[in-house]
Formats: sequence, structure tokens, C-alpha cells
Amino acid sequence: MRNVHFAWMALVLAMVSAPARAEPSTIDLSKWQVPDITKLADDHYGKLVRRGHALVTETYKYVGPEVADPSKRYAGNNLACQSCHLQAGTQPYSMPYVGVTSVFPQYRAREDDISTIEERVNGCMQRSMAGRSLPHDSEEMKAYVTYMSFLSQGIPAGSKLIGSGTKQVKEPARAANPTHGAQVYGEQCAVCHGEDGLGKRKGTAGDRQGYEFPPLWGADSYSQGAGMFRLLTAMQFAMHNMPLGTNYDAPQLSVDDAFDVMAFVNSQPRMAKVGMENDFPNRLRKPVDMPFPPFADGFSSAQHKYGPYDPIRAKMKELQDQAKAKK
Ligand code: HEC
Ligand code: HEC
Repeated sequence: MRNVHFAWMALVLAMVSAPARAEPSTIDLSKWQVPDITKLADDHYGKLVRRGHALVTETYKYVGPEVADPSKRYAGNNLACQSCHLQAGTQPYSMPYVGVTSVFPQYRAREDDISTIEERVNGCMQRSMAGRSLPHDSEEMKAYVTYMSFLSQGIPAGSKLIGSGTKQVKEPARAANPTHGAQVYGEQCAVCHGEDGLGKRKGTAGDRQGYEFPPLWGADSYSQGAGMFRLLTAMQFAMHNMPLGTNYDAPQLSVDDAFDVMAFVNSQPRMAKVGMENDFPNRLRKPVDMPFPPFADGFSSAQHKYGPYDPIRAKMKELQDQAKAKK
């Protein structure tokens, strides 16, 4: 009897003291202390986190097209995840992994569905790395996800992250000018990425050592299905991260130069990705800078690729409002 009584008391107390459902916390990644990987023990968990770190920084060495075991050739190019996700995925506004496992699963317009972190990793495997999906139960996928969850430690589920993705900037109200972009490229990018855009390998082709300076186009770069192939994403990435060493709070490229230089980069040849007509099945949620048809808005592929984007946004808004009114 006594015990029952105590159990009731405990329950009542728990109900009284239970906090109201908390507001999602806001975390500024530029002020956030990322956990120190070197402090991890050499146990199973520590090993898996370090393996994930290696797969991010030296992807080409373990799952690239030059590895000895053909069954492990998941990536189709010799980039590393770190080629874009700078500093092993910890740099703010360079699509950092810090906090990602706290915000996935999440709705993704590209699939018009809820996407898991594994599916998101494979999105970049197929597109940015021009390769094929890792099985969800593979050791490599486990390592990627464990590394990302390690980086996300202490960030509550559903947090609002400042510094995730790329930093928003308003693009110029005109079509991008790839000819001017070529000039910017020659002045500010070619010194590392090469006049021919093919980058500079650490060693020689076939040695699975990857690049000192990654290629920006050609067969060993990101595919046309990649986020970097979309001009607004690419402009924002370049402006806040390039030339290498640039930080988002001290950009070296003007908005106009970033817009034009990435238009030039994305006008150069690169691997195609099949099936892009199936992306964004809800056409009213298709981003304006996604250059592959079909489009709901009636604008050309060229305008989706190079802008100007405000007329497309206005048309999309009109179509979305019409769709809402019909409901
Ligand atoms: C060529 C550049 C590039 C490379 C290489 C690349 N990614 Fe990405 N990644 C992006 C861009 C751009 C985004 C965000 C834009 C988007 O969603 O399309 C992104 C987003 C992500 C996200 C979601 C981040 C978030 O905040 O929602 C994950 C996870 C991810 N990438 C994992 C990987 C992994 C793992 C690799 C290596 C196997 C990789 N990426 C290689 C460019 C790249
Ligand atoms: C000082 C050398 C340097 C300069 C100059 C430089 N980059 Fe980079 N860039 C790099 C390196 C190195 C990486 C890969 C980062 C890593 O592996 O840690 C990179 C990555 C990139 C990426 C993503 C990876 C890929 O292969 O697509 C893009 C896009 C890019 N740079 C564009 C530019 C543009 C545009 C300019 C000129 C405005 C520029 N870079 C100038 C060194 C440089």
C-alpha cells in the first residue's frame, strides 16, 4: 500500500515539474565548440568516428574510383567530401556537418519526401561524388553517420542552426555573365584550380591520393546533379569560402564576381546525371536555379541556369498562390 502511494506521489510530482515543451534552441555554429576528435578513446566508438573523419577528408583513398577493390569504388570522382565540406565538415557556411544528425530526418523538396541522414549522404555520393549509393548497413555509412553524430553532440534535436548550409546573399538582378566570370577565374582561381580547371593532383593519376587543388570541372569533378551545379548555391559557397582561406565574415569576391565566376565554372563540361527530370516531383517546390526541365513556370533552362531569378520567383509565387486558393 505504502509503495503504491509513493508511486502515485512520484507520478504527480513528475507531472507538476515536467517542463512545458521547450522552444527549439538556436545554435550559432560560428561560436560553437566542436568536440575534439583527438580526445576520443581508442575504443570501438572512437575508431568509428576516426574512420568517418578519414572517409570525409580522404574519400578518394577508401571509396574512390582508383581503389583496388572494385566493390569499394562508390565515388565516381577523386574529390573528397572535404573538397566542399571544408575543415572536415566543421566550417560554418560551408555546408557543415555540425548539427546535421540533430535536424535529420527532414523534409526534402528534391524527393518531396522525408529524407534520412543516410539518404542525404547518398545524395552527395551520387551527385557531388558522381558515384553510387553506399548500402545503409555498410561499415562506411555507419562511419559517416557516427562521425556526423559525434560532431553534432550537444545540439538538441530540431535546433535552428546559424551557419549551416551556405550563407544567403541576394544575387544580382541580371543574368550571370560567364565571359566576365572567365576573367575573374583567371585572376583569382586559376592559380590553384588550374587554367584548365582540372585542378592539381597530389601525385599521379591512379595512385588514389586525390588532389591538392580539386578540379572544378571535367570528368573528375562534381556532376550536373550536384548542389554545386546550382548557381545560387555555388555563388554563396564561392563567395564565403573561396579563394581558400576566405571566411564568410570577410568575403574576397563581390556578389557580382561570385555570381559570374560560378556561372563560368558551371558552363564548363562535367559528368551528366541521369533521371534529373524526376527530381522535385512537386514542381511548385523546385528551386529557381535548378536548370533541368520540366518546369512549372514556363521559363527556359538557360534562365534557370543563369538568371535573372526574380521573374521566375514572381511566377512561382503566383502559381503557388493559385494552387493554395484551389485547395
Ligand atoms: C562538390 C561539392 C560537394 C562534395 C564533394 C560533397 N558535398 Fe555534400 N553537399 C554539397 C552541397 C552544395 C550541399 C548543400 C546543398 C544541397 O542540399 O544541395 C551538401 C549537403 C550535404 C549534406 C546535408 C547538410 C545539411 O546541412 O543539410 C550532407 C550530410 C552531405 N552533403 C554529405 C556529403 C558527404 C558524406 C560527401 C562525401 C561522400 C559529400 N557531401 C560531398 C556539396 C558537396
Ligand atoms: C589558394 C588556392 C585556392 C584558390 C585561389 C581558390 N581555391 Fe577553390 N579550393 C581550393 C582547395 C584546396 C579546395 C578544396 C578544399 C579542401 O580540400 O580542403 C577548393 C575547393 C573549391 C570548390 C569545391 C570543390 C570542387 O572541386 O568543386 C569550389 C567550387 C571552388 N574551390 C571554387 C573556387 C573559385 C571559384 C575560386 C576563385 C574565386 C577558387 N576556388 C580559388 C583552393 C583554392
